[in-house]
Amino acid sequence: MIDMNELEYLKKYLHPDEDLNEAIKRLENGEPVQYIVGDVDFYGNIIKVNKDVLIPRRETEELVEKTFEYINKLFTNNLSILDLGTGSGCIAITLKKLLPNAKITGSDISSKALKVAKENANNNKVEINYIESNIFSNINDKYDIIISNPPYIKEDEEIMDIVKNNEPHLALYAKNNGLYFYKEILKNAHNYLNKKSLIAFEIGETEGNEIIKIAKTYFPKAQIILKQDLQHLDRFIFIINE
Ligand SMILES: C[S@@+](CC[C@H](N)C(=O)[O-])C[C@H]1O[C@@H](n2cnc3c(N)ncnc32)[C@H](O)[C@@H]1O
Repeated sequence: MIDMNELEYLKKYLHPDEDLNEAIKRLENGEPVQYIVGDVDFYGNIIKVNKDVLIPRRETEELVEKTFEYINKLFTNNLSILDLGTGSGCIAITLKKLLPNAKITGSDISSKALKVAKENANNNKVEINYIESNIFSNINDKYDIIISNPPYIKEDEEIMDIVKNNEPHLALYAKNNGLYFYKEILKNAHNYLNKKSLIAFEIGETEGNEIIKIAKTYFPKAQIILKQDLQHLDRFIFIINE
């Protein structure tokens, strides 16, 4: 059965050259409304989405907002920022609009996702450097900030069918109880960060304490802050090295 809110969304946002009846059929077949429309509004920016990229989430807008607040508190110079696992490019593009002088790199293991990210940077008229890389495998520079919303769903976790059946599993699931990417990033991040630095993560709501433990192992002197989203769920970790 069609969700009336999704039908309303479709009617409101479907591009005028698209066939509404075809679009409704796709909705009935369980396709996410955002893929049918073909783009989403992320922080006021229009971001193209298709089945090669995760649909940007509201929490990720909060990640960008909170990271921007920390950046304003901590840094004054022209920054270099790595968005690891950039997907559609929504984080990198939004940060570039907020910080026009920053040098921003988006990386992803998926060449298909990077194709969408590049199109989104062009459509939004911002310059982002994109690198195809398995975590840090092709990263050679040092950054002031690493921001990442990595895959973090546990391999045996039950998730909604509409997500499991449509969004790329490469963007969703992570080994080691959902913690694989946090551990790999934190273990190696020293090699890719300047002395004064910020790491900003979106996390799964039950993963906060485990990730803090990992962060303390690799960054024992850092200030580590766990933050909640608008629904009061643990959703973000910030690691500040001054
Ligand atoms: C949760 S999605 C986040 C996408 C986007 N940043 C966002 O917030 O909407 C995670 C992204 O990490 C990428 N990814 C998965 N494994 C990776 C790896 N080993 N190295 C780099 N990126 C990876 C996926 O392709 C996906 O685009």
